[in-house]
Amino acid sequence: MPTTVIAPTNIAVLKYWGKNPLWEDYNIPTKSSLSFTIESLYTITSVEAKRGSGQISFKLNGKIKEKSSKESAYVIEFFEKVGRFFSFVNFHDYKIESINNFPIAAGFASSASGFAALTKAIVGELVEFEPICGSDVRVSAIARLGSGSAARSIPSNGGFVIWGRGIDFRNCPNPADLPKNELERIAFSSYAETLFGPDHWPELSIIYIEIEPKEKKISSRVGMKATAETNPLYATWAEYEENEVKESMISSVKKRRFSVLARLMMRSSNSLHAMCFGAYPPLMYLNDKSINIINAIHELNAKKTQAAYTFDAGPNPVIITLRRYQKEVLSILQETIKNQKVHISEVGKGAYFCDEHLF
Ligand code: DP6
Repeated sequence: MPTTVIAPTNIAVLKYWGKNPLWEDYNIPTKSSLSFTIESLYTITSVEAKRGSGQISFKLNGKIKEKSSKESAYVIEFFEKVGRFFSFVNFHDYKIESINNFPIAAGFASSASGFAALTKAIVGELVEFEPICGSDVRVSAIARLGSGSAARSIPSNGGFVIWGRGIDFRNCPNPADLPKNELERIAFSSYAETLFGPDHWPELSIIYIEIEPKEKKISSRVGMKATAETNPLYATWAEYEENEVKESMISSVKKRRFSVLARLMMRSSNSLHAMCFGAYPPLMYLNDKSINIINAIHELNAKKTQAAYTFDAGPNPVIITLRRYQKEVLSILQETIKNQKVHISEVGKGAYFCDEHLF
């Protein structure tokens, strides 16, 4: 019987955008990020491991993914990285099946839930992990090796999650120069944890709008590298978010001060997209509809702050509001979002094991 996990996606309100250049291979970020766990958008993954030589068969949303496909390449690379730290992983064959209940790669963080579900399922399937992965902290750092944002979908309590950068990218050792124990210590120093569980702020409501369900042209992975390498303001921005924005955002959630959180998260999303535009050649993830939504929300908030938007590496907005404002928020967006698919969700728990298997 396989091991099956459901992992929800998460949406960052303080974004991860850029890797520590020396630790890029390990997805160690240049700065911390903060996210909410989304209850109703998730990946379900079943994994079966048998003694073998590392053969992987991978089915995603009902389709076998050939070895040469982009998705399989990511999964194979992930196993290779995990195998560097935990060699027993290399001595098994894996049958993996995954289903997302939302569009892939349209700025809806499918790699977050995908790698979180895969990691937890592998850890649950291989008994050798038992003594190593007693807590979510280690599992989160392993998920990070697959895709950075996946680290934030692991903490079982979900809710409002912080993923710390572990080491300062301006002053850190080169992994190639380190003995194994030091390499491991740093590689596992960057992980995600719940700050406030889903019950902390039950009034929060999350609206996802599928403006464009197609795959994005430039992936987050490529886009963040281009931004860090070509935008001269990048390092200043990363330090500003780490040192000036992070604590204020945490405090706004702690005190449930919606207008403060709204302002900080919109500014943070805007500054991310400004960073992208400042890359060369410029990266533009937002489209006309995204801009209409930004304008409509600022117009609505002019009277009283009722909603806040955030955009990942795509044009699809994620809007956060309070239940009592939800109707009004949807009504002012009506013109822009008619004929678009809208998902409404709550903040939920993190990844968990499930008894229904995909095969
Ligand atoms: C814009 O986690 O997809 O969604 O680590 O290269 O796999 P890799 O990148 P990924 O990047 C997500 C970027 C983002 C912001 C965020 O989720 O924090």
